[in-house]
Amino acid sequence: MALDLLIENCKGLVQVRDQLTTCVSGKAMSDLPILADAFIAIKDGLISDYGPQSNSPAIAKKVIDATGRFVLPGFVDSHTHLVFAASREEEFVLKIKGATYEQIAAAGGGILNSAKKIQAISEDGLFQKSISRAHEIIRTGTCAVEIKSGYGLTTKDELKMLRVAKRIGAETGLTVRTTFLGAHAVPKETTKPDYIKLIIDEMLPAVAAEKLADYIDVFCETGFFSPSETELVLETGIKYGMRPRIHANQLNNSGGVQVGVKVGAISVDHLENIGDEEIDLLKNNNVMPTALPGAAFFLGLPFPPARKMIDAGLPLAIASDYNPGSAPSGNMPLMISFACIKMKMTPEEAINAATINTASCLELLASHGSVTKGKVASLIITKPVNSLAYLPYSFGSNWIESVILNGKIISQLVC
Ligand code: NIG
Ligand code: FE
Repeated sequence: MALDLLIENCKGLVQVRDQLTTCVSGKAMSDLPILADAFIAIKDGLISDYGPQSNSPAIAKKVIDATGRFVLPGFVDSHTHLVFAASREEEFVLKIKGATYEQIAAAGGGILNSAKKIQAISEDGLFQKSISRAHEIIRTGTCAVEIKSGYGLTTKDELKMLRVAKRIGAETGLTVRTTFLGAHAVPKETTKPDYIKLIIDEMLPAVAAEKLADYIDVFCETGFFSPSETELVLETGIKYGMRPRIHANQLNNSGGVQVGVKVGAISVDHLENIGDEEIDLLKNNNVMPTALPGAAFFLGLPFPPARKMIDAGLPLAIASDYNPGSAPSGNMPLMISFACIKMKMTPEEAINAATINTASCLELLASHGSVTKGKVASLIITKPVNSLAYLPYSFGSNWIESVILNGKIISQLVC
């Protein structure tokens, strides 16, 4: 029974966990287990074995020599909006000239701008636009991704987005988890109470009937949805079997963390505007705080207080928020650099945050997030580098040489 793929002479096999474990919190976030001078074997798309190079099996259908290179588990990006119809660089220029995110949104730009474009495009057209982004994130090491709706804002267009998200998973090999985010913005032609009624009476039953969403999300923010509106929508989603996650405390300290804890959200995401009260509340709760450093960077917001959260014993996840308005990049290596440079996380903490902790908040720990026997063989092989810290240090450069997705070599770039 020959192996399908053998990666030999790895300088370090990163995030090796012999046993299935939970997410990592507090001090444990700085523990990133690395097996030096190692091999890893792949069979039927799964990790079948690994260990010291001296124990490497001799034969496999294909062998890669990883001398001088680290091998990491693929990234799990637990927060994206990568299904969208068009970019929004015109708003980017307005922001450079001084407009704020809220001003652009209030003038009909922002999410409503993206909604117009989604409503005008066919499902196939939307798939074609979005799949190139999926291929792009695979090349930068993402192997599992959460994709939200929220730019449809009508029942048919929200369903269209979620169908496209599912199709991306089926056609690329990316593991995709979907989230219904109908409560992302209120369309101009309706009122908020009427729109919330539409979400509850029409959208949620339709999404559930087609089994299109694993999760439900709300943009809980001043000018968007209040904590009590957020709670109502999330509680209704829970009744349809969707676990809640929230856009919380991005632009203001708007009470999103409190709602997240109250409804038992799986994660509260953004957190640019939280204080000690929110950090205290997150202790002793099973809610994963998630930082989206690409959005904080792009909008010039304060970065979430990662150090404070980790030092308080909390876990932390890092995701990209890939979307056309506030984070037009799904590049997880760049997010890890931002985490280290702007949020003072160590390279070990940042890699844990973008692998095992994001896998935990997408309920994918049985298959993703670490190098563990039986998990999917979705791996990153780096270029030859001196040390692990070189990866976040060399921000913006491509340190990935090859990506293996479910045991299949996706790209072998020339160094
Ligand atoms: O996560 N904050 C709300 N949603 C997105 C941005 C959406 C947009 O501007 O298109 C975010 O940042
Ligand atoms: Fe988002």
